Amino acid sequence: MLRIGLLTSGGDCQALNATMRGIVKMLYKNASEPVEVYGFEDGYQGLIYERYRLMDWADFSGVLTQGGTILGTSRTPFKLLDVPEADGVNKVEAMKHTYHKLKLDCLFMLGGNGSTKTANRLAEEGLNVIALPKTIDNDTWGTDMTFGFPSAIDVATRCIDDIHTTASSHGRVFVIEIMGHKVGWIPLYAGVAGGADVILIPEIPYDMDNVVAAIEEREKSGGRFAIVVVAEGAISREEAALSKKAYKKKVAERVKPSVAYDIAEEIAARTGREIRVAVPGHTQRGGAPDAQDRIFATQCGVEAARACLDGEFGVMVSQHNGEMRLVPLEDVAGKLKYVDPKSDLVREAKLLGISFGDE
Ligand code: F6P
Repeated sequence: MLRIGLLTSGGDCQALNATMRGIVKMLYKNASEPVEVYGFEDGYQGLIYERYRLMDWADFSGVLTQGGTILGTSRTPFKLLDVPEADGVNKVEAMKHTYHKLKLDCLFMLGGNGSTKTANRLAEEGLNVIALPKTIDNDTWGTDMTFGFPSAIDVATRCIDDIHTTASSHGRVFVIEIMGHKVGWIPLYAGVAGGADVILIPEIPYDMDNVVAAIEEREKSGGRFAIVVVAEGAISREEAALSKKAYKKKVAERVKPSVAYDIAEEIAARTGREIRVAVPGHTQRGGAPDAQDRIFATQCGVEAARACLDGEFGVMVSQHNGEMRLVPLEDVAGKLKYVDPKSDLVREAKLLGISFGDE
């Protein structure tokens, strides 16, 4: 009997179910022994508190196109891993206990950066763990792509497309806030796909003088409206120069719900233009996975299951230059993958006239 555990951890995304389907289908079809699947509920919480259900083939039928996660998810902050729960439970010991009690041969963990750190910790504690790179943010180190990212770009791009028509009708400047607190992959890709005029991402601190100049330049050249895409974590040069503590304090003190409103207010004051803000928010994590996501999720699932059958543990499935591979968990855990301000896409976008507010 091959006994495996599945859990989905951290913020959800569109292709979690598609990935789990890939794992389970591959194992059922290729394992030389019967397979028993334990699905842990709400991420690591299920492993800590023994909340799981025995699942089978049928549970993963018809879920390829279903967004969210059939297991539920939660965030278990890594920095609190060694702090006992209110009820005194030691999280690491509890997870090891559940794993051994169920006699698992492998735990598949679908999660982003923080969750991967926890997976690595469990691997260090001797559990057979295989991680799969989930996040709409695409910020996981060691892989060119994460599942969730393609669908999030699609949602964000559709939002920018829709705003275009109304911005054009009214001749307004729109500030659209796209997800990405620390990294700007979704705003960059959706901004280019949606034909934004300005894209502000955390990796490229902006100068408001440059943003205003870009909007005025567009108006002078006959553009009735302008689209400014800002990442949740867009940061000005002045803010970037602050200490981490001072910047956190500034963000916490924002009167408006998010950075887009601050930026919009400043643009309105300096240009005299009519401004509106749009925040697609969690729609970027919702709905069905797109075709590219389904394919990548399936590849991740199949490769993870193959690694399990081959006895390769303590790894994360990844894609590099179009090829699937395994990378050691300890090499990727907790490392963020940032947009390179000198990357081809940024350079090409600038050549097209898109402003990043830095020049
Ligand atoms: O990590 C994915 C993500 O959607 C980020 O882009 C966003 O900043 C954050 O999660 C939102 O978190 P929550 O769902 O806890 O509000």
